[in-house]
Amino acid sequence: MKRSLAAMGLVICACAAQAMQKNGEVWHDTAGHVVNAHGGGVLAHGGKYYLYGEHKVYGRAGNKAHVGVHMYSSEDLESWKDEGAVLKVEDKVGSDIEDGCVLERPKILFCEKTGKFVMFFHLELKGQGYKAARVGIAVADKPTGPYVFLRSLRPNAGQWPMNVPEEARTEATKGKFLSATTPWGGKASLWGAHFDGGQMSRDMTLFKDDDGRAWHVFASEDNSTVHVSELTDDYLGYTGRWWRIAELDWTEAVAICKKNGWYYLIGSGCTGWKPNAARSYRARSMTGPWERTGNPCAGVNPANGLGPELTWGGQSNYILKKSEDEYIAMFDIWKPENQVDSRLVWLPVTFNSDGTISIKWK
Ligand code: GAL
Repeated sequence: MKRSLAAMGLVICACAAQAMQKNGEVWHDTAGHVVNAHGGGVLAHGGKYYLYGEHKVYGRAGNKAHVGVHMYSSEDLESWKDEGAVLKVEDKVGSDIEDGCVLERPKILFCEKTGKFVMFFHLELKGQGYKAARVGIAVADKPTGPYVFLRSLRPNAGQWPMNVPEEARTEATKGKFLSATTPWGGKASLWGAHFDGGQMSRDMTLFKDDDGRAWHVFASEDNSTVHVSELTDDYLGYTGRWWRIAELDWTEAVAICKKNGWYYLIGSGCTGWKPNAARSYRARSMTGPWERTGNPCAGVNPANGLGPELTWGGQSNYILKKSEDEYIAMFDIWKPENQVDSRLVWLPVTFNSDGTISIKWK
């Protein structure tokens, strides 16, 4: 598979690499190339930061995966060295991660127990639109990969949600959760319909708690409800314990952090690549109950005049805990006509005394 640098979205900046990355502007790596990592996150490991995300190509083709997951490393979160494509789509026809599939929102955790780096991502099989709703899992020995694709699946086949008590685990209960009407008048298929085959899994994040337990949190049930799913000790599979949260809230683009014993979740509504208002939740436990805490965003993006009603034109993506006092919320401003031009927005999270969080444009 040969592609020109331009087709791969590697544009060399005539200017020297920028010292400062600015929110909503084009970011450059240390070689002067445009940073090409969207919908991903940042892994902090061994005194370094690793920025990773979807590598986009030019034009509408960028709405599908043609390269894979791109990574950059940094010591200061400012100057980014290109580490290349660390998980590559495959040419092989019929591969789950075939060139032309949808590979979105990769997230990486380091597993202390195994010493491996584990990547989960939202996967849609080539040629099936967004119907497959699967999660892909890959693993590497080093943060910079290469990540070896292990498998894709729909989580928790045959497993009851933990929020359904044992005595209520009957066919009749399942039957009540087959479908629902969407706010826009369509039909959404709920967990009961996916009990045997595994739950739908689209927009997603991974979260590692202080005790080392890891969680896969994803938009499920046709994006109507978020599932919080416990991972096994090696982070490569599921324990089968899962909880439904933000039920029928239609929350996508989930990102999670923890501070002072509170878990915070930010997300967006369901309008595809188009921006909408962000929302937040908080809980004392990953498994809930999660309480709605409103739109955390404030301020206006001067480049497009958009404020919190449209998340400055962006959509939430990840929250990096840099230190006990510094949390950085990350957003993408998508450009579906030319995703290689999508922009990154990183803003500090403020934890308010009333238990809410704020994220202000700057
Ligand atoms: C968004 C989602 C993106 C992408 C897009 C496709 O809602 O957050 O990751 O899947 O829809 O339309």
